[in-house]
Amino acid sequence: MSKIDFTGRVAIVTGAGSGLGRCHALEFAKRGAKVVINDLGGTRDGVGSDSAAANKVVEEIKALGGEAVPNYDNVATVKGGENIVRTAIDAFGKVDILVNNAGILRDGAFHKMEEENWDAVVGVHLKGAYCVTRPAFINMRENGYGRIIMTTSGAGLFGNFGQSNYASAKMALAGFANVLKFEGAKYNIKTNVLIPLAASRLTEDVLPPDLFARMKPDFITPLVLYMCSEQCEDSGVMINAILGYYSRSAIMTGPGTILSDGERIPAPEEIMENWDKIMSLENPKYFDQLMTMFGELSPLLK
Ligand code: NAI
Repeated sequence: MSKIDFTGRVAIVTGAGSGLGRCHALEFAKRGAKVVINDLGGTRDGVGSDSAAANKVVEEIKALGGEAVPNYDNVATVKGGENIVRTAIDAFGKVDILVNNAGILRDGAFHKMEEENWDAVVGVHLKGAYCVTRPAFINMRENGYGRIIMTTSGAGLFGNFGQSNYASAKMALAGFANVLKFEGAKYNIKTNVLIPLAASRLTEDVLPPDLFARMKPDFITPLVLYMCSEQCEDSGVMINAILGYYSRSAIMTGPGTILSDGERIPAPEEIMENWDKIMSLENPKYFDQLMTMFGELSPLLK
């Protein structure tokens, strides 16, 4: 088994002041990476700021003999994203690895979802990923190497009551990775999607206490380290991690049915009559890109 080693690599972990991000950052540093510890240090719902969150993790890494610098910028602004990446370049010369991890929650049933709470959550998770990834991606392209993680959530991929803002932002990150897997391919930049479930301040009132005690972020971090390693050659995949369980999730497409000769427009009643066939997920297929789907239409394209 080849050893995963980050000596000479520079990693940025956003929201690394606590929870999953802290755990990833510590393990990157233990395996030789120089790490930028970004954290705004606000509350769980994204209010306020405190440099102590990032500073504490930098101290932890230094105490272990590792190298790290703090950054206190807000991921949700273009200026913040640029400063985070500049912190890495100024301190360590480049960016090899970016883990988009910073996150907040503002849950509530959709009919009560005010614009402010929608914007705050979409701002940190989705725009935040844009703001930090863009300058990092530019540097990675120049260097011909990069590993990027988007942290999504089962709330977005599968659904969860009361999280319309969060689920929308998280699901969008899957689409984001689907594009970066192509745009980064020529430059050895791999972008993969993490679907974690673990104990943190975001889940302390959701998980039952006995599970909360066992579902340590430490179970998530090995997957992140592998997906950020030179050894990982996949890009655009989504992997679940919970306790010791790891599995792939993917958007699959059912066999469907053809209701036309490619010229005649079917009636809505034909859709209704064929609903079972349209809905079937028997022997689903995975399309690695939009155009691959055209293969399914071949009888109509003759
Ligand atoms: P956490 O609350 O412990 O960590 C999030 C960190 O992000 C905090 O330290 C916070 O200060 C920082 N942060 C928040 N807004 C920021 C901003 N605008 N700029 C910079 N830093 C900011 O929570 P946890 O659970 O460790 O979350 C990490 C990521 O994992 C989040 O994206 C979350 O949505 C995601 N996630 C977590 C799950 C879980 O089970 N804990 C499940 C699914 C997804």
